[in-house]
Amino acid sequence: MARKQQTIGVLTSGGDAPGMNAAIRAVVRTAVDLGHKVKGIRRGFTGLIEEDFIDMDAMSVSDIISRGGTILYTSRSKEFMTPEGQAKAADNCRKHGIDGVVVIGGDGSFRGAEKLAEQGIRTVAVPGTIDLDIACTEYTIGFDTAINTAMEAADKLRDTSGSHERCNVIEVMGRTAGHLALWCAIANGSEYVLLPEKFNDDEMDKLVAKVKSKHDIGKKHHIVVNAEGVGDSFEIAKYIQEHTGIETRATVIGHIQRGGSPTCRDRVYASALASRAVDLLDQGQTCRVVAFRHGHFTDYSIAEAMSMQKTIDPVLDKLIHKLSR
Ligand code: F6P
Repeated sequence: MARKQQTIGVLTSGGDAPGMNAAIRAVVRTAVDLGHKVKGIRRGFTGLIEEDFIDMDAMSVSDIISRGGTILYTSRSKEFMTPEGQAKAADNCRKHGIDGVVVIGGDGSFRGAEKLAEQGIRTVAVPGTIDLDIACTEYTIGFDTAINTAMEAADKLRDTSGSHERCNVIEVMGRTAGHLALWCAIANGSEYVLLPEKFNDDEMDKLVAKVKSKHDIGKKHHIVVNAEGVGDSFEIAKYIQEHTGIETRATVIGHIQRGGSPTCRDRVYASALASRAVDLLDQGQTCRVVAFRHGHFTDYSIAEAMSMQKTIDPVLDKLIHKLSR
């Protein structure tokens, strides 16, 4: 029996991440390959409410795999958080014949996908965030590019830090999570890393003691990686300078981490995850999240995925302490 042709919507939501375009491309090309139609939904859930839809075909995603950002634009929709907004979004899907939606974004977007599914529109979520803060998956779209950007920035700071015999605090993104910071600190051979998950009352004393001890054995540069969720890097730099006597500067690398051409890993994994999301919609599934875990591409119900807790990797956490002695 011939498979029923579906219309699949695709949107990107929350903070953009390098590799989202590769994911959009994979959604469109997989859907077309399976004989389905595709509608791009612009500006995330806002576009669903405002009927900002475009027809997409295989050609409309040509030449985007190497581009950062998202060609569909993104937003964090306050209106979609209301029951009225969710009902309107679902009505618009029905009006435009959209059977299922691939939602590419972070955990906030997963909740959005769950709400839309409750309104009767099938959804599959794809983890897209530089923060790597989604428990059901060891990979999220954009983390690899972002961590390489942060690593290069920290390498550059080390040069100037050494020349001036200073301490440099580098602030990386991650919202309330410290994964970017921990990876950056290991990759750059940093002296210390401040993580929101582990920050406690005597952390600043330990940091000062560490910088002082390194200085006393002749170290000429000191790199401290601060996760944005810990607090103001300029205040931290001031504290270090006051308590060590070592001139200290702070650098916030900010949104640069969200841009740039995606790495090979981000392009390949984004393609694989997004293609799997379309396969699930094709099979009639709903309220799922695609993931990469224990060495395999897989998927979970959104409810199960959201019940999992992500912690700082204990192996990497031990490693930074061991290697920064
Ligand atoms: O979730 C991605 C992220 O870049 C976080 O690391 C950061 O805290 C936040 O988004 C910044 O959001 P905005 O672009 O709205 O300032």
